[in-house]
Amino acid sequence: MSADLPAIEVRDLVKTYAGVTAVNKVSFTVARGEILGFLGPNGAGKSTTMRILTGYLPANSGQVTVCGLSVATHSDEVKNFIGYMPENNPLPDDMRVSEYLHYRGRLKGLSRGKLGVRLDEVLDLCDLKRVRHRIIGTLSKGFRQRVGIAEAILAEPPVIIMDEPTIGLDPHQILIVRDLIASLRGRMTVIISSHILPEIEMTCDRVLIINQGRVVTQGAPADLRREVFGHSRYELEIAGDTAAALPAALVRIEPTLHIADAGEPDAAGFRKLSLTTVRDDDLGETLLRALAADERFRLRALNRVQPSLEDVFLASTRRGWDAVDAPKGASK
Ligand SMILES: Nc1ncnc2c1ncn2[C@@H]1O[C@H](COP(=O)(O)OP(=O)(O)OP(=O)(O)O)[C@@H](O)[C@H]1O
Ligand SMILES: [Mg+2]
Repeated sequence: MSADLPAIEVRDLVKTYAGVTAVNKVSFTVARGEILGFLGPNGAGKSTTMRILTGYLPANSGQVTVCGLSVATHSDEVKNFIGYMPENNPLPDDMRVSEYLHYRGRLKGLSRGKLGVRLDEVLDLCDLKRVRHRIIGTLSKGFRQRVGIAEAILAEPPVIIMDEPTIGLDPHQILIVRDLIASLRGRMTVIISSHILPEIEMTCDRVLIINQGRVVTQGAPADLRREVFGHSRYELEIAGDTAAALPAALVRIEPTLHIADAGEPDAAGFRKLSLTTVRDDDLGETLLRALAADERFRLRALNRVQPSLEDVFLASTRRGWDAVDAPKGASK
C-alpha cells in the first residue's frame, strides 16, 4: 500500500437495524500511525461502526477501505490487517490465558517460534504474566479486558480497533493501557472508543464525536475546544473597584474582554471573577502586567481556564441533538 494512502477510509456509511438507523452517512479517514478516539453517548453507533470496519457486520450502503482494500469485498483479508477487541470482549471461559493467546496467535498465522517470543512480550506489556496459567473463566473483569487487549496486539497488525478497552479497569490499569496505546503511536493505526474523556484527550491525536449515528464534530482535542467554545476564559481574584473601574480597564486591554461572572467578596475584599474573550492567544501576561500596574486594583490570582473535552463533548452532542430535533428547513 502506498505511504500516502489513509489506513482507513469510511465514506457515507449507513447501517439500519429493523428500521432503526444506527449509522447515518458517517464519513472519516484515519491516517497511518494515527490514534483516533471515537466518542459518543450510549447508542450513538460507535460499536456498530467498529463492527462494520472490522468486517464482522455488513453495511447497508457506503464504502469502507482498510489498508486500501474494501471491507465489503475482501473481509477475510481485512480481518488479517486488524487487531479487534469487540465490545464485551467475548472469551472462552474454559481455556487458560497463555493457551488461548497461543491458539489465537496460530490462527493469526504466527509461526511457533515467533509466537513464543511474542507471547512473552505481550503478557509482559499487558501485565498478565501472573495469570498466564489461570483459567479465563476465573479471571476478574479487568484481567479479562487485558487478555482482550493482548489478543488485539498479538500479531502486530497495522490496524488496531478496540471498543471501550478501559471499561472495568482500575485507575492503575487504565494508566497501563493508556501507555500501551501511546506506545503504538506511529507504528500502528488505532481506533479506540471510550467514555473516559480525559483519557481520550491524553492518548488520541484526533477525536471523532458521533451522536445518533452522525458525525457531530472531529478534530484535534485543542481545535475542538476552540470550535465549540469560540472564546477563552480567565479566572482572577481581585480586590478594588471591580464594579465600575474594572470593565473599562479590561476593554482598554482587549476590546472583547468582559466579565462573565463575579463572585461575592471574601473577608479580605477579593472577588473571584470569570472573564471571557474571543481572543485565542494567551492574554495572561498582558492582563497580569496591566492590572498589577493599576493602583485601583489588587490582584491575587490569575488563571487561564481550559475547557475540558467533557465540555466539548456535551456542547457538541447537544448541538447534534438540536440539529436533529430542529424542524425541517429551520436554519441555525
Ligand atoms: N443487533 C441490533 N439489533 C437492533 N438494534 C441494534 C443492534 N445493535 C445496535 N442496535 C441499535 O443501534 C444503535 C447504535 O448502537 P451501538 O451499539 O452501535 O451504539 P454505541 O455507540 O456503541 O453505544 P454504547 O456506548 O452503549 O456501547 C442503538 O440505537 C442500538 O439500539
Ligand atoms: Mg458500544
